[in-house]
Parts: sequence; structure tokens; C-alpha cells
Amino acid sequence: MSSKPHFAQARARANIALAKYWGKLDAERNLPAVPSISMTLDPLVTETSVEFRSDLARDEMILNGEPALAAETTRTTTLLDRVRAESGLSLRARVSSKNHFPTASGLASSASGFAALAAAARAAAGLPYDAAKTSDLARQSSASAARSVYGGYVELPAGKRGEHVLSAHVLFPPEHFDLAIVVAVTAEGRKSVGSTDGMTHTRDTSPYYDAWVKSAPALADEVRTGLETRDLKRIGEAMEQSTLAMHACGIAAGPGLLYWQPATLAAFHRVRELRTEGVEVYATMDAGPHVKALCRAADVAKVAAALESVPGVLRTLRATPGPGIQLN
Ligand code: DP6
Repeated sequence: MSSKPHFAQARARANIALAKYWGKLDAERNLPAVPSISMTLDPLVTETSVEFRSDLARDEMILNGEPALAAETTRTTTLLDRVRAESGLSLRARVSSKNHFPTASGLASSASGFAALAAAARAAAGLPYDAAKTSDLARQSSASAARSVYGGYVELPAGKRGEHVLSAHVLFPPEHFDLAIVVAVTAEGRKSVGSTDGMTHTRDTSPYYDAWVKSAPALADEVRTGLETRDLKRIGEAMEQSTLAMHACGIAAGPGLLYWQPATLAAFHRVRELRTEGVEVYATMDAGPHVKALCRAADVAKVAAALESVPGVLRTLRATPGPGIQLN
């Protein structure tokens, strides 16, 4: 911990949803319409420092060494305002955030970013560490960030009408099940439609939205039971259905959300082919073209080699279950 008053630094990791969050019960309060279950990923770390200072007229944000875009700073200020309201502190803050994984890694940095920001901001404002409050705070900025507060296998329940506080919780610690993720990166650059806009558009225009919301809890139940019994087949089959149902619902929107590239489908088919060759591996995609393959840690090299040979796959990245927030 720094000796500077009102300064704190936190580290949080990205996560991958095995059962997907897609859709909001309450957009203003950012309450998810469906439960989601994720794995927190090592070594994909975001490190964020927050310093509340008396010489600032407004909040300032540095992202990977560069001044952040206005929209990013505004989202940060919204979170900081909640911390100021809770702590009674009125000072503006200087925020610096660095992703220790490639931006075009196929894994969103918003989950790890808002989890680290929530933890650092609360600590810098003098609030004692409280994982549930940190998760609830992160969730209001980006729901997937609520999960990155915790390590291992984590669930964020669906929101309920009339209840405004919602945090994620640990289902199982990282060492519970020796799984790994291989990310097949299929494109460079930012995704065409961000998750927030994508889910709003889906809810507003897809005839399949209600069906998705209705079917998602049973898939989350399957993933949870599969984790409990360390049954990769059960987790994997539910995970594939969850991602395909989420994408089907977006594809049916008007106009349809088409996150996939030819390499996305090629990599997905390669994963299924690997299963016929005896490797237990399953695929998932988020709101982007990259494929994330879930397998046993012992099979990572085989899965990575197979995905790297798929035309259109630019590179792979490997991750294993990691810890939650670390304050330093
Ligand atoms: C497809 O958490 O980025 O990655 O709450 O609007 O910030 P907001 O959305 P976000 O959505 C993530 C969607 C997903 C699935 C998941 O991570 O569960």
C-alpha cells in the first residue's frame, strides 16, 4: 500500500462466461436478465490505480499510458461518483489502468478493468475491503465485471425486480477443476457492436429474445452441476448451447447481429472435430469473432496446435483459472 493518502492500486483478471449473460432486466440499474457463470482467467490481468487529489477539477484517466477517450472517462466518473457518495469524499481522482494482456486478445478488458477500478476506488476512498460491495459496484458499470472480483468459478445471478443490489459469488475455487481456455484470435481491432448496444438491440428487435431469457437458467444449472461433479462433457455441452443460443438470438435481431467471421466457424468446427479424435474440448464465443476453447489443462498444447492450423486463426492465447481481486 502506498504511503500517499487516498491512493490505492488493485489487480483483477478477465473472465470467460461458460453460461452467458446477454440481456438486461433493468438497463438503468444494469441488472442482468439471466444468470451467468464464468471462469476467472490467469494471467490476463488489469492493474488500476486511483488517487483522489485536491488539485483536480475533474477526474482524469490514463489507459495503457494514453489519455482515455471521453466516453471511457465518463464511465469511470460514474463509478467514482458512487464511491464518493458512499465515502463522503468529494475529491476528483486520477486513474491509471494498464492491461497486461493484448487488447486484441479476444477477451474484453472491461470486466477486469471495472473490477480493478471498483476495488482501487473504494480502497483509495478509505472504504474497507468488501468483496460483495466491490462486485455490486463493478456490476453497475459492466455486469461481467461483477464476476472478475472473485477467483475460480463464479456465478452472477439474474437480477430481480425491486432488488437493486446484486453481486456475484464464488461457486468453486480455481483449484477445484483443472480446466483451461485456449483463445483462437480470428481478427484484429475492435468489435463492430459492443455488448451493451448488442444486447439492447437484441431485446428491442429479436423475436427470440424472450425464448433466450427463458432458456438461459437451465443452461446455467447444467454448467453449475457439471462444475460441481467435475464433468467436462456436461459443462461443455451446456456452454456450447449457451453461446449458440445467445448468438442465434442476436442473429435474429433486426438487423441481425453477426459477430462471426469465416474463421470463427472454421475454428468451432475444428473443436468439434477434435472431440471425434478423442480430445475433450468445447467452444464458446462472446460478442466478437474469436473462439474460446475449454479443455483439460493437460490438453492445452494439443488444442492450441489444432486451432493454430485453422485458416484465419491469427494466434492463440492460453489461460487457466485464476484468483480474484488483489489489492496492493
Ligand atoms: C457476451 O458485461 O460487457 O461477454 O453489462 O452492458 O457492460 P454490460 O455488458 P458486458 O457483457 C458481456 C457479454 C458477454 C457474455 C458474458 O460475459 O457473460
